[in-house]
Amino acid sequence: MQALQSPKTPSQLLWLGTWSLGGEGFGPTDLGESLATIQMALEMGIKWFDTAGFYAHGRSEELLAKALGRARKQVAISSKGGLVWHGRRVFHDGSPSGLEKALLQSLRRLRTDYLDLFSLHWPDPHVPLEESVGALERFKERGLILEWGVCNLSPVQLSSLFQARPGTYHQVQFNLLHRDRAVLEAGRSSGCTNTVYSPLAQGLLGAPRLSKGMAVLGKKDARRRNPLFRDPAVLDWARRFHALCKDSGVSPVAAAYSWVLLDGRVDRVISGAKTRSQLGEVLRAAEAVGRLCGERDSSRRAKALAALLSPELIKHMETPPCSTWPLTRQPGKD
Ligand SMILES: NC(=O)c1ccc[n+]([C@@H]2O[C@H](COP(=O)([O-])OP(=O)(O)OC[C@H]3O[C@@H](n4cnc5c(N)ncnc54)[C@H](OP(=O)(O)O)[C@@H]3O)[C@@H](O)[C@H]2O)c1
Repeated sequence: MQALQSPKTPSQLLWLGTWSLGGEGFGPTDLGESLATIQMALEMGIKWFDTAGFYAHGRSEELLAKALGRARKQVAISSKGGLVWHGRRVFHDGSPSGLEKALLQSLRRLRTDYLDLFSLHWPDPHVPLEESVGALERFKERGLILEWGVCNLSPVQLSSLFQARPGTYHQVQFNLLHRDRAVLEAGRSSGCTNTVYSPLAQGLLGAPRLSKGMAVLGKKDARRRNPLFRDPAVLDWARRFHALCKDSGVSPVAAAYSWVLLDGRVDRVISGAKTRSQLGEVLRAAEAVGRLCGERDSSRRAKALAALLSPELIKHMETPPCSTWPLTRQPGKD
């Protein structure tokens, strides 16, 4: 499989993610609207749908199966294993037997006999990466999955793992507030498809309301575990970003997506749109820059951004808050 290059249309660029659609961890969710959002994505030609057994304790997968119905074979489903719930706490299980159990559960919840892509959700600190990947390769040999992938690897892990296996998918967080370009570089040199998630930093860049941070998140909101939502420097930066977007008459969603899509190393973006209206806005943002996505010439990409955004906004976007947070933080633990 070759890494996909130079996509142009929003439906080629975007995957729809289902974490926030599942009704858990992202504030009040109207599940009817979640179904309608997936159906709108289908109508708009989106082909890839990303989910995980971890999302909403499996309910995101069930919801996706319900929304896709008979359209399942016309689309690609990406799911993941390697994180397990014990009550309200999350643990790693990247062992071959743990991954097999997770895959079989995902197939059952998704009402399908194969997945287009199954990935290791996070490397398990107690299981060698090669052991987890070996299990994924065997699932492919057995015909349970068409492709396997990995998520959240460091540049070193990525380079050593993919030297022998170019062309697979790596999911990694990438947005204005979490700019790990080294991992995208490593993905590019290893020949894998850089599939980035959280383009709006879990909503912080999408709505001014969320730049109040923890104060506006409910007790059960999964974003309480995201260090961005409690870092005063990050929240100040986000407030200024929203104010500058307002002043220059551009939507923050358009600004944040344009920056991600025009990076040049980004192959695919997984959108976390939770409603049809949010998805519509994301599609418009991708439409506006789609022509230049995958463009290798950085000056042409910079010109495209300058045509869309004011110089003051671009300057702000070029100077991120100086806080950093570890990429390798344990899911479910702060
Ligand atoms: N492999 C991994 O480890 C991993 C990790 C995280 C995510 N993912 C995948 O990536 C997908 C996307 O990640 P994400 O959910 O963090 O994406 P995101 O788009 O950064 O955040 C989603 C949140 O942003 C807000 N939002 C989305 N579109 C908006 C719009 N047009 N206008 C205003 N606000 C908007 C919503 O917040 P409100 O709910 O407050 O409205 C939504 O819940 C996930 O669904 C999942 O499939 C993978």
